[in-house]
Amino acid sequence: MSLEEMIYKRKSTRSFTDENIDAKTMDKIKEFCTNIKPLYDDIEIFADFVSKKDVKCVLPWKTPQMITIYSEEKEGMYENVGFIFQQLDLYLQSLELGVCWLGIGKSKEDRKGKLKYVIMMAFGYPKGERCRSSVSEFKRKPLCEIALKENKRLEPARLAPSSVNSQPWYFVQSGNTFHTYCVQKGIFSKVLGSMNLIDVGICLAHMYVANSEKFKFFKDENAPLKKGYGYVGSFVI
Ligand SMILES: Cc1cc2nc3c(=O)[nH]c(=O)nc-3n(C[C@H](O)[C@H](O)[C@H](O)COP(=O)(O)O)c2cc1C
Repeated sequence: MSLEEMIYKRKSTRSFTDENIDAKTMDKIKEFCTNIKPLYDDIEIFADFVSKKDVKCVLPWKTPQMITIYSEEKEGMYENVGFIFQQLDLYLQSLELGVCWLGIGKSKEDRKGKLKYVIMMAFGYPKGERCRSSVSEFKRKPLCEIALKENKRLEPARLAPSSVNSQPWYFVQSGNTFHTYCVQKGIFSKVLGSMNLIDVGICLAHMYVANSEKFKFFKDENAPLKKGYGYVGSFVI
């Protein structure tokens, strides 16, 4: 299945066999990683393919392979990580592998030179059902709760995975432009949580994959304000 088709089928896998992924498949995965589109091409990132012993992560399930993700510390780093590695999530699932983002846990290496550890993903051969058979199996907010103007074109974003299924994104449409927002941490806080910014990057990746020819991301100084949310960026499709 294509990456775009995976948007409508994928789910997090939390049950893996303890088999290691064969060398040929690992080569394909590493090759795919060299061609992923970033959200910001001036933020350096690094992905390390490691085993469970290299991370501090208490999980009730076996995860033979992990990807630990590092980034240069710059504005946009979290959205960029979500955007890049959600493309990998879809690719791994298209290879019939299981994958799960892991916000809990830490890498044993907090830094790789100037790059800081951000998040990890577990992947491997799945045990049991790996995919959803229809969109009705997704537990997600309806379009009217994530956008000012309901637009079916936002369906790929609506179905995106997020930390504790928080779905912290919001869209305000103006013509072909979609201004994208992330919920603020508390009622009195203007802070955007790093995990939620990764989530917004993930939903932007779904919009990119579903509109790869037209998708363009940019910052619009005149984007409208949205109470309780922070502006992340805008895209045209
Ligand atoms: C940034 C991020 C962090 C996550 N962290 C965890 C985690 O620590 N443990 C876990 O079991 N699932 C984790 N998940 C998976 C989410 O719980 C899951 O994506 C969400 O509930 C939606 O379900 P789905 O991915 O099956 O569509 C994480 C997902 C994202 C996007």
